[in-house]
Amino acid sequence: MSLHQAVNLAFLVAAVCFVLGLHFMNSPATARRGNQVSAAGMVLAVAAAFALVADGGAMTAGRWLVLLCGALVGAGVGLWAARSVLMTAMPQLVSLFNAVGGGAATMIALADYARNPQQGSGTALATVLDVIIGSVTFAGSLVAAAKLQGYASQPIRFAGSRLANLALAVVALASAVAVVARVESLPVLVVTLAAALGVGVLMVLPIGGADMPVVISLLNAFTGTAVAMAGFVLSNTILTVAGALVGASGTILTKLMADAMNRSVPAIMVGGFGTGAAGIEASGAGGGSVRSIEVDDAALQLAYAERVIVVPGYGLAAAQAQHELRALAAVLEERGVDVSYAIHPVAGRMPGHMNVLLAEANVPYDQLKEMEEVNPELPRADVALVVGANDVTNPAARRPGNAVSGMPILDVDQAKSVIVIKRSMASGYAGMDNELYTDPRTAMLFSDAKKGLAALTAATKALVG
Ligand code: TAP
Repeated sequence: MSLHQAVNLAFLVAAVCFVLGLHFMNSPATARRGNQVSAAGMVLAVAAAFALVADGGAMTAGRWLVLLCGALVGAGVGLWAARSVLMTAMPQLVSLFNAVGGGAATMIALADYARNPQQGSGTALATVLDVIIGSVTFAGSLVAAAKLQGYASQPIRFAGSRLANLALAVVALASAVAVVARVESLPVLVVTLAAALGVGVLMVLPIGGADMPVVISLLNAFTGTAVAMAGFVLSNTILTVAGALVGASGTILTKLMADAMNRSVPAIMVGGFGTGAAGIEASGAGGGSVRSIEVDDAALQLAYAERVIVVPGYGLAAAQAQHELRALAAVLEERGVDVSYAIHPVAGRMPGHMNVLLAEANVPYDQLKEMEEVNPELPRADVALVVGANDVTNPAARRPGNAVSGMPILDVDQAKSVIVIKRSMASGYAGMDNELYTDPRTAMLFSDAKKGLAALTAATKALVG
């Protein structure tokens, strides 16, 4: 078998690993194995790529040094970042990884064009698509990461921003057409790149409030597509396959998130994003009075309930209180209370955040209920126990004209009674007051989630012996 045949075989095995890895991620029970299988495929693909490069005859000692140093630094930073990042900062990290993917794909196309601008029109098309999508992803993901980190999380608009974005898009497209028409000029491709960077920034800046989840998955899909284009530019099968898988799965996730948020994907891309107004609405929460509750009273209510539905949100993740929640549920279940968990698709800060968090505390999967399944059950719940969730429970979403308008919510206000554990009356990610907190059926247990849940468990145990 020649080296090229062996490399192609390795690429094929790697591609099968990627597909199997994705398949295993269908269920939380097999998701870890999915990660391991995909990682094994990636190791194989990288090793095969090294073999191909070594065989190419273009490598000198200096080039090997650069290549190995780059690989070591990249792998080291990636490993450190993935191991040290807090669960709550994961979305920012994903955004940064998206930026790195888009940027790397762009650099590949740029370097290849700089080396040989006399490309056939097929390769030139892949080159400009790679540069445009990769640059939009790079710039957009950096802005998204900054927003998720809490810098400028409110929408930023300025007079003429849409017009400026349109103008930049026209420049990017016109210069791209020139490249495909064989102008054979690197500066023209650099114009495409610069304009696309501007489009990325202006596309993400106006997005804020509760709409970030869709943007993150959209940028993820873009990263995959840019990498697939880089695969075409280099005629590298595994790059094309891996990029296409990320692009396709990211697109499906974007569609699911957009549907869950009742948002339109094309509206995102033209910057007229979301259905809500940009401003922060001082909603009914300011009008009604807030009733607070002590731990002992809350424990009494929970201990004598027949059915409790827990509504976890970002605050549960921030407090890392999943184990305390599980311990409270165990005490209640021992008393025969029926406990289940209502999972909103965008609760927390990343897709599947609550599922991962609760799985970590060994909450049985069959107790986790999706929004459509649990909403009809909420009116029959004696207590809806809201732990660090805010936007995903805000009844203001049912009205037009605010930052969460149109977003389907968990119908917590339909439960017979509601206990909310959070530290203060502070707003959630969308920056809005929550009308649920002034509902006469709601009682606020002001506490950090970890401390509050531990105190509730102790009080419930003391109460029921
Ligand atoms: P949020 O609306 O963000 O509310 C979280 C609440 O948790 C805050 O009001 C905060 O109130 C409370 N909290 C924070 N730390 C706490 C602690 N240590 N103990 C107890 N409570 C604590 O959360 P949500 O309801 O999960 O909604 C998610 C929001 O994030 C949505 O707007 C969604 O669109 C957005 N988003 C989601 C994603 C994905 S993919 N899921 C990505 C980006 C953005 P206090 O400060 O008063 O405690």
